[in-house]
Amino acid sequence: MTIPRDIIPLSNTVVPSSPSLSAFFNAGASPSYETSYFPVVPKKQLKPFNTGDIRILLLEDIDRTARELLQKEGYQVESHTSSLRDSELAEKIRDVHVIGIRSKTKLTASVLDHAENLLAIGCFCIGTDQVDLEYAAKRGVTVFNSPFSNSRSVAELVIAEVIMLARRICDKSMEMHFGTWQKGSTRSREIRGKVLGIIGYGHIGSQLSVLAESMGMSVLFYDVVPLMAIGKAKQVKSLAELLVSSDFVTLHVPETLETRDLIGRTELETMKKGSYLINASRGCVVDLQALCEVMRSGHLAGAALDVFPREPSDDGPYFNEDLARWVTEIRDLPNIILTPHIGGSTEEAQEAIGAEVGGALLRYINFGCTIGAANMPEVTLRSLTVAEESHLRVIFIHQNRPGVLRQVNDILGDHNVDKQMSDSRGDIAYMMADISKVDSTEVQALYTKLEVLSCEIPKFLSPLRPYFGSTR
Ligand SMILES: NC(=O)c1ccc[n+]([C@@H]2O[C@H](COP(=O)([O-])OP(=O)(O)OC[C@H]3O[C@@H](n4cnc5c(N)ncnc54)[C@H](O)[C@@H]3O)[C@@H](O)[C@H]2O)c1
Repeated sequence: MTIPRDIIPLSNTVVPSSPSLSAFFNAGASPSYETSYFPVVPKKQLKPFNTGDIRILLLEDIDRTARELLQKEGYQVESHTSSLRDSELAEKIRDVHVIGIRSKTKLTASVLDHAENLLAIGCFCIGTDQVDLEYAAKRGVTVFNSPFSNSRSVAELVIAEVIMLARRICDKSMEMHFGTWQKGSTRSREIRGKVLGIIGYGHIGSQLSVLAESMGMSVLFYDVVPLMAIGKAKQVKSLAELLVSSDFVTLHVPETLETRDLIGRTELETMKKGSYLINASRGCVVDLQALCEVMRSGHLAGAALDVFPREPSDDGPYFNEDLARWVTEIRDLPNIILTPHIGGSTEEAQEAIGAEVGGALLRYINFGCTIGAANMPEVTLRSLTVAEESHLRVIFIHQNRPGVLRQVNDILGDHNVDKQMSDSRGDIAYMMADISKVDSTEVQALYTKLEVLSCEIPKFLSPLRPYFGSTR
C-alpha cells in the first residue's frame, strides 16, 4: 500500500524554503498559507518575489477551497466554470505560470507549446490522462494531481451498496416507481455477521474494512503485498480463499496488466452461491460477459458496478449497446446496481482535492517542493527559518545524463552547501540545494553562472526562469 499523501511526516517542517528559476532564491516574508498539513515557519527572503506576479488560470469550476488558498497567497487567480475552446486555451495558457484543470481540458504537446511561462499544472482530479506528462516534464513543467482524496467517498458508496444488495432495495424501489407494492422478507438479509472480502487493501480497501467492521461484518482481504490488517480484519493467502469464504466480494485494485479480468468466469464460479460482487475500481478488472452469464445462472445473488470497461465520454443517453454488447444484458439483470462512475464524486472529495492540489501548487511555487508530482522526481528539503538569514535555495531541473550534476556542483562548490537533494525520474533530474552565508553580490554571480550553464547544457530545463527573469 502506498502511503497516503496526507500523512507525509512533517516533523520539524518538511516545507522547504523558497522559489527559484534556474536558481530559487530563498524568499523571506514567508507565504502565509495555513493548512493543517504544513506548519507555518517564518522565513527570511534573500531575494523576495511578489506573489502578485504569479498568474494562475483555473478552469472547469475547480473547488473554491483551492481558489481561496491560492488567492490568499496573493497570486492572481482567474477562474472559469467550464473548459475553454482550443483557440482560447492556446491564448490564455501563453502567459500563466500555473493552470488548474479537471478531466475535460486536454493539455497535449501542441497546447503546451503555446505556454511561455508555465511552471506547473494542477489536475484537480484523480487521473492525469488528459495531460501529456512526459512532454510537460521535458519542458520543465511539474504536474500535480490528487489520486487518493476520494477514498472515503468510494468506501461509503460500497458500504451502502452492500446493504442495498442484501435487501434488494434497487429492485424494490423500481417496483414502487412502477406502482407495485410487494412486501416480504424472502431473500432480504442483514449484513451483520456476514463476511466482506476485500480485494486490494489500499487507501479505499482499508477504509472500507473499518466501516464494515463497525457494522458487524467480518473482513477478509487479499492483496499482492503483505499488509498490516486494521481491526480484526484478516489477510488471506490466495484470491480463491477469499472468494470461497466471502458473502460479499468487493474490488479495490488498480488497473494493471495483472488485474485485467482478475474476476473472470472461473473466479465468479468460485464465489459462494448466493454471494454478491461489487466493483468500484476499474472496469477492466471484471469480465462483464462472464458476470452476466453467472448471474443469469442464479449463482450470484446480485452485483453493483460503478465502473465499466468502456464508459461514455459524455453525460446523456449513452449507456447502450453502442458501447458494448454486455450493456443490454446487464441492464436487464435483477438486483444489479449500476452507477455512472460516481464512487468518488462527492462535494467533500472535491474539497479535499482542492486542498491537496492547491497546497501542492503553493508549495511548488513558493518552495520548489515536488512532493506529490505526477511527472517529476519528488524532492524536498526542510525549511529555512528566520534564524538562517543569508541562505539561498537553488533548484536545477535538467536532463538526467552524466556530467550535468557535476557542472552544477562545480558552481555550488564555491559556496557553503548546507543541504542538497537530487533525484531523477526517466530523463528528468531535479536538484535542490540550500546554500548558507551568501551575500547579495554572490547571489547575483551564482545566478549568472547557472544561467550560463543553462545555455551550455542542451535541454536544460528551468521552469521558473520566466518568472525570476523578471525580478533580476
Ligand atoms: N469508482 C471511483 O470513482 C473510484 C474513485 C477512486 C479510485 N477508484 C479506483 O479504485 C482502485 C483502488 O484505489 P486505491 O486508492 O485504494 O488504490 P491503492 O493504490 O491505495 O490500493 C490498491 C491496492 O491494490 C493492491 N493490488 C494491486 N494489484 C493487486 C492484485 N493483482 N491483487 C490484489 N491486490 C492488488 C495493491 O497492493 C494496493 O494495496 C483504483 O483502481 C482506483 O482507480 C475508483
